[in-house]
Amino acid sequence: MDHIEPLSATAAAALEVAREAAALAASELGSSRELKDVRLKTPTDLVTRTDHEVERLITRRLLARFPGHAVLGEEGGAAHEAAAGAPRWIIDPIDGTSNFAHGVPWFGISIALEEAGVVRCGVVAVPPLGEFFVAERDRGAYQVGPDGAFVRLRVSPIETINQALVATGLPREPLRSWHVPTILRVAMRALEVRIMGAAAVHLAYVAAGRLHAFWEPGLFPWDVAAGVLLVEEAGGRVTDWRGRPLRMPGGRLLASNGPLHAMMMALLMEPSEGPRGQPARPAVRPARPRARVPRAGAARSRRAPAPRTRRRRRPR
Ligand code: IPD
Ligand code: CA
Repeated sequence: MDHIEPLSATAAAALEVAREAAALAASELGSSRELKDVRLKTPTDLVTRTDHEVERLITRRLLARFPGHAVLGEEGGAAHEAAAGAPRWIIDPIDGTSNFAHGVPWFGISIALEEAGVVRCGVVAVPPLGEFFVAERDRGAYQVGPDGAFVRLRVSPIETINQALVATGLPREPLRSWHVPTILRVAMRALEVRIMGAAAVHLAYVAAGRLHAFWEPGLFPWDVAAGVLLVEEAGGRVTDWRGRPLRMPGGRLLASNGPLHAMMMALLMEPSEGPRGQPARPAVRPARPRARVPRAGAARSRRAPAPRTRRRRRPR
């Protein structure tokens, strides 16, 4: 067991606030949809009363301690003026709102602090499981147990894609059309592919060595700020799909344990991207339909396939 002692004041505050926020969110998980007040934020995105309540709680607590800081929350609840260049808290009160809204116990809370464009600390909580992950830049990534003990996180060392448990997200259209072929390509090579519905938790699980890679395009800073730091501090790698520094928002994020990064990039970019916004060419060709063999004794229909002849070998 390792320790990160002492946590910086900002990381300690983020962790403490995450605990309070997680208790609030977990207590609402079993409520009815009416009580949760599930609404459509956009034609395809859900939001609940709890998203707003949790964001207000986190924002209030953090600004009480750090009044000069700025806040960027997914639900935009922080009407708060801060000086230009002030450190900024990046908050996703509920990452995985679709799961939460439907009572599925797998969602996260993400809190990160960015200074001068660099994320300095981050916390991801998984309220239904009582899990908390914290990272500080250059000081490591940790899981904090229920007894308050810190266990250092390390990405998995596996090197082969066929042993990899990888995860992705399902963005809305127009990204979905060209993202789905990437899922097919990875699924043909990886051990398993998961789409569990919370980018922040997927990233924390890559950091914890439970998942080996995660990719998704079109994410926002609040989905990933804390999770990316967790992966990096756990020894993993985060880039865009071409291996370049990730641009936010909307970049194509690829996080991995490191040894799998090149293989994942090759699978994601192969064979060639379609033009912007266009579906990519399907990479895995559907199997050729097999000629149907007429049942023994059945009359041969006029549309029955001709008997197969030996195909000529293509010259190499
Ligand atoms: C969403 C989740 C989901 C991902 C979406 C995100 P939200 O965040 O992280 O896994 O696929 O792209 O928007 O909206 O539930 O906070
Ligand atoms: Ca959210």
